[in-house]
Amino acid sequence: MLDLRSKFPDYYKYHGRNITKKLSSSNVRILNDHYSKYSLDKKILNIYSIGSTEQLLQSDFFKKIILEVGFGDGEHLIECALSNPKVLYVGSEVYVNGVVKVLKKILEHDIKNIRLCGMNFVYLLNILNQNSIDELKIINPDPWRKKRHFKRRLVNLENIIKISGVVKNKYSSYITTDSESYFNYINEIFSSNSNLIHENKNKILSKNDKLYGVSRYQRKAIKNGKKIYQLTF
Ligand SMILES: C[S@@+](CC[C@H](N)C(=O)[O-])C[C@H]1O[C@@H](n2cnc3c(N)ncnc32)[C@H](O)[C@@H]1O
Repeated sequence: MLDLRSKFPDYYKYHGRNITKKLSSSNVRILNDHYSKYSLDKKILNIYSIGSTEQLLQSDFFKKIILEVGFGDGEHLIECALSNPKVLYVGSEVYVNGVVKVLKKILEHDIKNIRLCGMNFVYLLNILNQNSIDELKIINPDPWRKKRHFKRRLVNLENIIKISGVVKNKYSSYITTDSESYFNYINEIFSSNSNLIHENKNKILSKNDKLYGVSRYQRKAIKNGKKIYQLTF
């Protein structure tokens, strides 16, 4: 992965952090030795660079494909993959330390139903086949709270349209956020584009909801008294 990142930096670029702590030599070794087996990055790059027609996701052995975008340290992704071995989980995350954490768990539990994409999600989104994903989740995307940074928000009109195309059914894409401003921003996108459907499915999560408290970032927000909003489209 590290070699691909330095050869094709544009695909891995994003506005936030990519690596927070310097990777230890053992983590570098784990990435070098094992990442390619679980990763989609090379296939994606081949599609872009040489127009490869190789199938990105082989779903023959799986009954569903679920995509989690920006999985952070991967707690939710790992838990889902362990509990549902017949579902293929695709995890997208640009934060290398998070990718290493997940890779370690994959190796520890010999998980066979996770594929990883370490590049900016947009590159994955742009080449996914229409109606190929059963469910898509974005758990608390970076809020980019300052108005001048709103344009960096991952959930924007362009990506909502693309996500709606790659997900098989309506109401199978979930976004949670602790940012009221982001929640309103996304709602505004829906209300100003009448062809996009999400009505009646917005809510504030509570303890019994499936996506409540599922990640470290979310639990920190809850601890700080924040509400968790969910949008479904
Ligand atoms: C606020 S964190 C939340 C992490 C995790 N979902 C959680 O709730 O703990 C947002 C995550 O999305 C990742 N991310 C942001 N933009 C991304 C992109 N374009 N492609 C892939 N990952 C992205 C960041 O690296 C970060 O780990």
